[in-house]
Amino acid sequence: MQNGPEHFAKLADYILAYRASLDQRPHRPEAGYHEMLERLRESVPEQGVETGAMLEQLIGQCDDGLMSICGPRFFGWVMGASDMRGVMADMLVSGWGQNAGFHASTPAMAALEEVVEQWLLDLLDLPRDASIGFVTGATVANATCLAAARTSVLRDVGYDPDADGLFGAPEVTVLLGQDAHSSVFSALQLIGFGYNRVVRVMTDDQGRMLPEDLAGKLAASPGPKIVIAQAGQINTGAFDPFEAIVPLAKAHNAWVHVDGAFGLWARATPGLRHRTTAIEQCDSWATDGHKWLQVPYDCGFAIVRDREVHERSMTNWASYLPTIEPGDRVPSALVPELSRRARGTPVWAIIKCLGRDGIIDLIDNHCAYARRFADRVANVPGIRVLNDVVLNQIIVAFGTGDLQQRNAATKAMIAALQQDGTCFVGGASWRDQWVMRVSVSSGETRERDIDLTADTVVAIWREMAEQKGTRD
Ligand SMILES: Cc1ncc(COP(=O)(O)O)c(C=O)c1O
Repeated sequence: MQNGPEHFAKLADYILAYRASLDQRPHRPEAGYHEMLERLRESVPEQGVETGAMLEQLIGQCDDGLMSICGPRFFGWVMGASDMRGVMADMLVSGWGQNAGFHASTPAMAALEEVVEQWLLDLLDLPRDASIGFVTGATVANATCLAAARTSVLRDVGYDPDADGLFGAPEVTVLLGQDAHSSVFSALQLIGFGYNRVVRVMTDDQGRMLPEDLAGKLAASPGPKIVIAQAGQINTGAFDPFEAIVPLAKAHNAWVHVDGAFGLWARATPGLRHRTTAIEQCDSWATDGHKWLQVPYDCGFAIVRDREVHERSMTNWASYLPTIEPGDRVPSALVPELSRRARGTPVWAIIKCLGRDGIIDLIDNHCAYARRFADRVANVPGIRVLNDVVLNQIIVAFGTGDLQQRNAATKAMIAALQQDGTCFVGGASWRDQWVMRVSVSSGETRERDIDLTADTVVAIWREMAEQKGTRD
């Protein structure tokens, strides 16, 4: 039997065993991309194989090329650990085979998504009548929100970009901080604004927009304006000073969008909410489910204050699609796609299981772990923590010589740590120097994992510094 229960049972056993093995496995793939490509490449199968053989091949060939993103010491990028409760809900979504594009195709999933929309607005303490599009991630959430922004600011000056496109449209000025995330530029590219046609606002040493520079640049920008602010800089975790910049932008009638892929979740916890004061006065917010909330990939939220403008910018209508009752929320009217999976369902499962308290613990713990890690490495000669650890991000530089020597030492450390496999960390360029990035965002991480990681970093650094004589 092709879809026999034994295959499901085996698959569930494998997934559970895989997850259980992650603590012991090296936190890096054993086989690299080119090796995997070599192994997996084959021509189109002329005859199909039996289900069991397909699963065996898939698992057998891919297992050692997997990254331990769901492991307890994965700090490489801001990624969640795909909580198993979300995985179960996702299996149901696929098992049910629902298309969450509109009500008629799946009343249950459409209704559940509407419930989750309200839960998210409540947890993030954003305007309760805002609308949320369930998209693939923060990049598409940024693009969706910025499309709504484009509709709004151009309609304000009597131009309809959704009907008439951008050819001959009035010029829109887009202002953003110098340390905005790359996905914002990709979103601007996608919606026809271009990634170079922006006004860059100066930032401080943590990557926060300087309000006085924004004020000057707003004053010098005639016509429709969009300001893109940030909650959670990808390297430092810093927040733009919303209390200062939102009133400035509003005084110039600008639409204010927030890229809060992970940082917006600071709003869900009383201990961190102060970093986001005034964020609720913005016009749109992009965040992810698959990062800090631990929803399995892919899941992001495009949140727009003005539901009407959100729907207008994502219009998709045809006579064969079911008619919409006035006032009904149409899932596809808030996202770029028509057909899609029911992304709200694993979000529902995770919020249901964690509850508000569990989400607060998750975020607060990660921030405490980030501080703990920074404290444990900061006093070691030759190791410097470069950011104020205000959230879950730590950036670290190694070595004491000139910039070239320090960059070489930092790159060597990252490579050595990745080879060691106790943890996974990545690198980036920050203020012209190479840094090691540590992002604490896995629901599997515990205090002991932080201590083990810090001990490993220090031990490898001491060994390397002794060998190479790069230490003080
Ligand atoms: C600040 C910020 N914005 C946007 C994104 C893009 O998110 P996604 O990868 O979910 O599209 C990221 C990803 O790390 C991010 O950190």
